[in-house]
Amino acid sequence: LKATMIVDKDFVIGNVDDRLYGSFIEHLGRAVYGGIYEPGHPEADARGFRQDVLRLVRELRVPIIRYPGGNFVSGYDWKDGIGPVDRRPRKLELAWRTVEPNLFGMNEFADWSKAAGSEVMWAINLGTQGIEDARNVVEYANHPSGSYWSDLRASHGYQQPHNIKTWCLGNEMDGPWQIGHKTAEEYGRSALEAAKVMKWVDPSIELVACGSSALGMPTFAEWEATVLDHTYDHVEYLSLHQYYGNHENDAPTFLARSLQMDEFIRSVSAICDYVKAKKRSKKRMYLSFDEWNVWFHSHASDKKLEPWQVAPPQLEDVYTLEDALVVGCMLISLLKHADRVKIACLAQLVNVIAPIMTKNGGAAWAQTIYYPFMHASLYGRGQALVPLAQSPKYDTKEITDVPYLESIAIHNEEAGEVTIFAVNRHLGESLPFEVDLRSFGTCTVLEHLVLEGADLKAVNTAESPDTVKPHASGGAKLDGARIEAALAPASWNVIRLS
Ligand code: AHR
Repeated sequence: LKATMIVDKDFVIGNVDDRLYGSFIEHLGRAVYGGIYEPGHPEADARGFRQDVLRLVRELRVPIIRYPGGNFVSGYDWKDGIGPVDRRPRKLELAWRTVEPNLFGMNEFADWSKAAGSEVMWAINLGTQGIEDARNVVEYANHPSGSYWSDLRASHGYQQPHNIKTWCLGNEMDGPWQIGHKTAEEYGRSALEAAKVMKWVDPSIELVACGSSALGMPTFAEWEATVLDHTYDHVEYLSLHQYYGNHENDAPTFLARSLQMDEFIRSVSAICDYVKAKKRSKKRMYLSFDEWNVWFHSHASDKKLEPWQVAPPQLEDVYTLEDALVVGCMLISLLKHADRVKIACLAQLVNVIAPIMTKNGGAAWAQTIYYPFMHASLYGRGQALVPLAQSPKYDTKEITDVPYLESIAIHNEEAGEVTIFAVNRHLGESLPFEVDLRSFGTCTVLEHLVLEGADLKAVNTAESPDTVKPHASGGAKLDGARIEAALAPASWNVIRLS
């Protein structure tokens, strides 16, 4: 058993867009209320923003955060979330069957994002709303002054526009569960008309059209082709969403799921290029993988929740070491497609299928998946290099030819660093790994971080937040222009070189 990889600075996939390390906050469960916003919490500032949560978010260096949904947005009136808080309506929220108090909305989120060091990626409602609100929300958010909506924003205390650059044209409109679900034709037309007026209000914005909610959707491929037929000239990105779970408790298959993510990205890229060819267009459509993660632990308990509560504990997956390895593999998949995927959002950020958890009134801590995401965000910026890798493989009932090694190298020329991310999918054996650094000359190993453990099901909790944590004793060594490392069984590795 041995894996090898050649890393050459001239074999470049593409520049890693910083926005690959985006995330997502939806008005769902305790993401907002009890998560990022909890007035009265000992760590909350005067605006109700939890500083313990903000510290954990800032450590992740998240450049962009999608908001306010998700399924939520398809029934949301953005106007309910602006103006004096005591006059905002409490409403039934049909997507997640809760009560939305609207104590937090666009202006609060813009302030919070600034504090987090992130940009806002705003999703408009194309379920129950349409062109009228699409133009008005852009005018409210981005127009400087001298019009009804921009002056209203100023009267709400926000003289300066928020300048939200990236906008999603609805959410998962292909899904029958979506409020205002549409056929591809219906959605393509609505998205096009919304896109036109939004860009007439602010020509500097960029738009994301909804692709499929998952590779397995029955309308997949036809949906993308039809939607792009309508919107190709008016949007910059097409979205992809995908979550994986391990209901069968089959770790080898679960760890191989990222190969399906690769396939999904390749297929959507091909559809984009098909529409491009058909239209004789010179424009390249980029991808926004704006929901991705592991999601399955909370499915059963969510079914038992009483409806119409404010901020109940929904989608509170407690992540294992095994989940962190899958997240690591998914990050490597995104990096392998850095030439095409320009935005990606780990769904979500706090409490709801999230790397950061809180207790209402209590602690905030990092889940297992926090660490691979943090490593990729901190060290995975620069140019993604082609992973010329050789690895022994395994088969599962469902997925064959799964390499034990999943790996990619990122060259950060500015910092003079190369970082190798690698997962060993072998559950029982360590994997000898040799990296040929031919074009880089002499390097030094800065550190070899490892996330590993004897128990694949180990988790972090409020009581023991450090059960699963990376250590820096990976032991990668340099031998001339070669790195030699032993990748521990079932491990996530970050080998940093300068
Ligand atoms: O992230 C949780 C949910 O997953 C989102 O609301 C929806 O867009 C997707 O189905």
